[in-house]
Amino acid sequence: MAPRRLLAGSVAVLLLGLLEVEGRCFFNRTEEHCVCYNLTQETVGSIIQCLPASVVEFRGGELERYVAFPITGLDSSTIETLGSLVIRKIVFADLLVPEILLARVLRFFSYTQVQELEFENCIFKGRGNWDDMAGQGLPILSLHFHNVTAAPLTGRQQDFSSLSSWLETLQELAVTGCHLTSLPCAIGREFRALRSLDMAQNSLGDESLMPAFCQGAFPQLQVLILQSNNLTSHHSVCESVQLLPELQHLDLSQNKLVADPSSSCQWPVSLRIFNLSNTGLDEALTPLPPRLEVLDMSCNHLRAVDISLSSLKKLFLSQNLLQAAPSIRNCPALDTLHLNNNSIAELPWAELKLLGHLRDVAAAGNPCSCSCSGAGGLQALAATGRLGQGWPEGYRCHSPPGYRGWLVRDVPVLQCNSAAVIAPVSIALALLALAGAVCLLRARPGLLRRCRGG
Ligand SMILES: *[C@@H]1O[C@H](CO)[C@@H](O)[C@H](O)[C@H]1NC(C)=O
Ligand SMILES: *[C@@H]1O[C@H](CO)[C@@H](O)[C@H](O)[C@H]1NC(C)=O
Ligand SMILES: *[C@@H]1O[C@H](CO)[C@@H](O)[C@H](O)[C@H]1NC(C)=O
Ligand SMILES: *[C@@H]1O[C@H](CO)[C@@H](O)[C@H](O)[C@H]1NC(C)=O
Ligand SMILES: *[C@@H]1O[C@H](CO)[C@@H](O)[C@H](O)[C@H]1NC(C)=O
Repeated sequence: MAPRRLLAGSVAVLLLGLLEVEGRCFFNRTEEHCVCYNLTQETVGSIIQCLPASVVEFRGGELERYVAFPITGLDSSTIETLGSLVIRKIVFADLLVPEILLARVLRFFSYTQVQELEFENCIFKGRGNWDDMAGQGLPILSLHFHNVTAAPLTGRQQDFSSLSSWLETLQELAVTGCHLTSLPCAIGREFRALRSLDMAQNSLGDESLMPAFCQGAFPQLQVLILQSNNLTSHHSVCESVQLLPELQHLDLSQNKLVADPSSSCQWPVSLRIFNLSNTGLDEALTPLPPRLEVLDMSCNHLRAVDISLSSLKKLFLSQNLLQAAPSIRNCPALDTLHLNNNSIAELPWAELKLLGHLRDVAAAGNPCSCSCSGAGGLQALAATGRLGQGWPEGYRCHSPPGYRGWLVRDVPVLQCNSAAVIAPVSIALALLALAGAVCLLRARPGLLRRCRGG
């Protein structure tokens, strides 16, 4: 009995990431966060303090020595202990993880309430045998890999199908900074409940997207992040995501995309959030998905933009070459408009006034016109708190010459206001004078009497 108990105990400890190197754990009670650095057999007792944590991180060390560890079943008290832990998220970082070991301990997570598993800067060594996972569900809903290396994904259909009972319940998957060049079609078909797939900072090219999002792959996908990959063609990316009927959020930022004006591909109509920031755009894509709510086209080479999207709420166009503010009168729901660092002299005050929801405008770094309407408009917007970051230091006059280099805030618009008041008064006076003259002409010679009489 005693050796079995010992063994079971060791497995439990292993699950908690017993790493036989120097170090200890630090628990932050406020954040319910525990970090263990390079644990050794001497300092492993320190793990005890992590038990009330909801997030536990194991940093540093290697697990290779446990590969030959004879792991069998767990006894009921160990299972009970695992079940009572409040740990929701476990992070393994800066580690060498033998895949064979992971394959052997993964199923014990079914006794825990761990929902998130994250591997960061890890090397997965070798290949494991995942047969024991067949038919096994796990409470883990979110799986993150960042900067990990592992055996290639191709030719692993058997592994993925052994894991399918679990994978078909997974909701979030992130594989970032992993030099990923492809994602086989069969893999996507296992992730039947996946909502969010983040593949930022990889090396996915146009030709690898089509197979990744083949018929039946990721049928429930809502969020797809492809930021910083090796994508080059709007057309082929658009074609590749056609089979994702639930897609709501697509991030293509930081790719060097080239638009193909002859492309007739339509982006999924389900899209709500579209990030095209820093994608080398010379002109806005048309047609845009009709139900878009957030559109980020900042950091491109746009010279003019004309958008009409009735549900658009946020439009980001900072760092472009816009000579004039975009035409937005057909975006009645707009609440956020960012136009920093363009070449826009003056905002279209008449259009902005019609946008009742507008509460966040940013236009720093533009060559402002400090005419009465230009400076007055910006000052009025700032006074209502709707001018975002960058006021007042980011707003300088470019014209008229007398105010060049001034902060827009410092331009006296009082005179403008009095000019505005004086104008109608002068017109009224002129009209009066005219009426008087007419009177004078008509009444001659008995003018005074007739005019007095009305
Ligand atoms: C715990 O985390 C909070 C928030 O980050 C921090 O302010 C506090 O100093 C930390 N406590 C300890 C003991 O490190
Ligand atoms: C990525 O992980 C490796 C270990 O696998 C590490 O040596 C490297 O420094 C990590 N890179 C970054 C940018 O953190
Ligand atoms: C990116 O794609 C181009 C061809 O489209 C290829 O020549 C290049 O090697 C790729 N770069 C990476 C990092 O995969
Ligand atoms: C778009 O992506 C960039 C990173 O590439 C990010 O900084 C920006 O916040 C994203 N925009 C939105 C609206 O989420
Ligand atoms: C404008 O561009 C400059 C230089 O690229 C940058 O430093 C600044 O932060 C940008 N301003 C805004 C408001 O984005």
